[in-house]
Amino acid sequence: MIGKYRRRRSSPLLYGALCSFLIAGCGGSEEGSEEQQTLSAGPRYVDGTSLVRPLDYREWTFVGSGLGLTYEGETTSPEDEPPIFTSVFVNPSSHRAFMESGVWPNDTVFVLELRDSQTAAAPNRGGRFQGELVGLEAEVKDSRFPDGWAFFDFGRGSDLSDLKEVATPLSGAAAAPCVQCHTEETAVERTFVQFYPTLLEVARQKGTLKPGFRDGG
Ligand code: HEC
Repeated sequence: MIGKYRRRRSSPLLYGALCSFLIAGCGGSEEGSEEQQTLSAGPRYVDGTSLVRPLDYREWTFVGSGLGLTYEGETTSPEDEPPIFTSVFVNPSSHRAFMESGVWPNDTVFVLELRDSQTAAAPNRGGRFQGELVGLEAEVKDSRFPDGWAFFDFGRGSDLSDLKEVATPLSGAAAAPCVQCHTEETAVERTFVQFYPTLLEVARQKGTLKPGFRDGG
């Protein structure tokens, strides 16, 4: 785990040298300071497996969005309810690793942000844009979890302060649908790369699409 929080904006060389000299106390700490929760940081936990809601996910790499996606088995929302936007962000160092290899490294964090869609603002005449926050979910690839992945739900609310600051990994009946859909329907590992066009292209080139995935492209 050493090196997880090592990338810092200031004096990386000096910090690296100090790290090798001091070894203990560099990176790897679960009580990383806010400064350590930088763009490249992976998951931050309390009590070993409860995920701290990333504060800066809107500065992470945006990989794709959906508008009004509905899944089989789900009751579709009534026609007069506006469709929900989903936006997916991944921590930048894992995104870079994926662009080189087509696989997700350990310590990858995904954030799925849900927002309502709106129409009423000039000069809009017909399209939809993102409105209020509706909820926030996350998914982590980390070997500390029994099957290497975990799902988290920070709850629903129109403001970040309505959401949980820390979420325990979903388990049992709460996790079952996440695990099932993210195992059976996904293009790469447990992730919906088929909905993220720039990643899909990389997965095709690197040959990392799951054997059972039917690639329409
Ligand atoms: C029936 C299918 C289905 C179920 C059940 C499901 N998801 Fe997803 N999930 C999707 C699809 C499709 C996407 C693709 C992108 C989108 O929604 O914009 C996605 C994307 C995600 C992402 C972004 C990273 C990725 O894997 O592509 C996260 C995080 C996520 N879901 C969390 C959850 C959590 C947490 C649960 C359970 C509470 C859950 N999902 C249940 C279908 C599902």
